[in-house]
Amino acid sequence: MIEIPALMGLRMINDGSVSLLSTRFEEKTNVCTLSWQTPLSQDPPMVGFSLTPSSRSHDFLRQTGEFVLSIPDASLIAETHFCGTHTGKIVDKIRLMELRTMRARRVSPLLITNCIGHLEGVVRSWQPIGDRVFYTGEVLTALVEPDCFDAGWKDQAQTLHHLGGDLYRTAGGTLHAGKFPLPMSRTPQAGLFDNPREERFL
Ligand SMILES: Cc1cc2nc3c(=O)[nH]c(=O)nc-3n(C[C@H](O)[C@H](O)[C@H](O)COP(=O)(O)O)c2cc1C
Repeated sequence: MIEIPALMGLRMINDGSVSLLSTRFEEKTNVCTLSWQTPLSQDPPMVGFSLTPSSRSHDFLRQTGEFVLSIPDASLIAETHFCGTHTGKIVDKIRLMELRTMRARRVSPLLITNCIGHLEGVVRSWQPIGDRVFYTGEVLTALVEPDCFDAGWKDQAQTLHHLGGDLYRTAGGTLHAGKFPLPMSRTPQAGLFDNPREERFL
């Protein structure tokens, strides 16, 4: 596991990968599955996620304001689905799923080391939206398995993408947009990245 810049770490969830939200309160770590999460800001690097207030994760987050988003790969599909369909109010999911953990660098929730990447963060705001609470959080630390990530997920990183119910897809191959030029007739004279006044998008 190596540390990478937090901003680069946002790319872990650019593709809508399912994540495991780790929270900790009074020496107890809870883990729940999330798919409604997104990068929000580059400076500071921030993420947002929508969470049901009936969850134990919500209770823990309200107490401590610290979290880790860990990214599972397809080898963890059963555990990922279990953590999204059972509440830590009733079962100790980490023990039951035999998930391996280690201390995070800057927050108290534990990293799920079976996962291939981690974003450690602190809550900056929260707001009810419909039946969820939308949290924003600043990412303090990003850690990845170097075999799986190099400026983005490598093809061998079989991230999970939730379709609904118990259906998931795994990541397909990587495409380089730069290798698929538009026909000249449809190419504008200047692109966003050619204009120094525009910030570059991650
Ligand atoms: C693939 C998957 C994705 C999920 N994504 C979310 C989500 O983004 N937000 C949410 O509130 N619940 C989501 N859930 C449901 C929670 O994981 C579920 O309510 C969980 O039991 C909460 O656990 P806890 O009470 O231990 O915190 C998802 C479930 C699955 C299976």
